[in-house]
Amino acid sequence: MNSEHGKLYIPEHVGIIMDGNGRWAKKRGLPRSVGHTYGAKTFKTITRYISRQGVKYLTLYAFSTENWKRPLEEVNALMKIFRQYLIDSLTDFREDDIKVVFIGDRSAFAEDIIDLINETEEVAKDRKGMQLNIAMNYGGRDELLNAVKGLCRDVKENKKSADELTEQDISSRLYTAGQPDPDLIIRTGGEHRLSNFMLYQAAYAEFYSTDTLWPDFKAEDFDKAVLEFNKRNRRFGGV
Ligand code: IPE
Ligand code: IPE
Ligand code: MG
Repeated sequence: MNSEHGKLYIPEHVGIIMDGNGRWAKKRGLPRSVGHTYGAKTFKTITRYISRQGVKYLTLYAFSTENWKRPLEEVNALMKIFRQYLIDSLTDFREDDIKVVFIGDRSAFAEDIIDLINETEEVAKDRKGMQLNIAMNYGGRDELLNAVKGLCRDVKENKKSADELTEQDISSRLYTAGQPDPDLIIRTGGEHRLSNFMLYQAAYAEFYSTDTLWPDFKAEDFDKAVLEFNKRNRRFGGV
């Protein structure tokens, strides 16, 4: 980033709710799936840019547990894009040493997609650069439900006592176990809601919403979000 503004603090963990692909296409009289194709291009370029800014963790919301409700035609188009995307991401992020991890319930995807997800994680596992969490079939409530189930099992097997459970026990049962909570959550497409994104982890995240639709989101838009983040006074409940 161009730092005419003095020293900027770069958030350690950034989450992005990549919204607005459908509206972007509609504005152009194109099918929604074309919006997703362009959104996928933004995903690549912005990931590289953000890693070069020194962000340590980037979580991109690509498909929610509720997005299965969409017309089959759109879901199928998205799956086709994911396939291509996963194939590309085997090599795409190598140059920037980006470690790719998937969060969400991958078991719902077709077998070939699951294989690609596993392969992508495997080839990237020893990389030392930014960690990219791609949230696919991700839902914050689903994640918490799984955490609760796991903790119930621990209690039942006498590995933990119910009365002594801690917030840390919950964190360590989430997909993001071991990672810092997001500092900044950006939402494109103008809505002011989380739509089931990182419900537990977002407790003290700074929320930034922009009207820019995801396929139009550029490096400058990310810079603006970071500038705004630098003006926020994070108190974490203190004074
Ligand atoms: C975000 O764009 C991509 C996914 C949710 C998969 P949308 O498809 O939600 O686009 P809008 O919000 O309808 O414009
Ligand atoms: C949130 O966008 C999910 C992703 C960006 C993957 P949606 O378009 O699904 O959210 P709502 O329906 O507007 O809340
Ligand atoms: Mg949307």
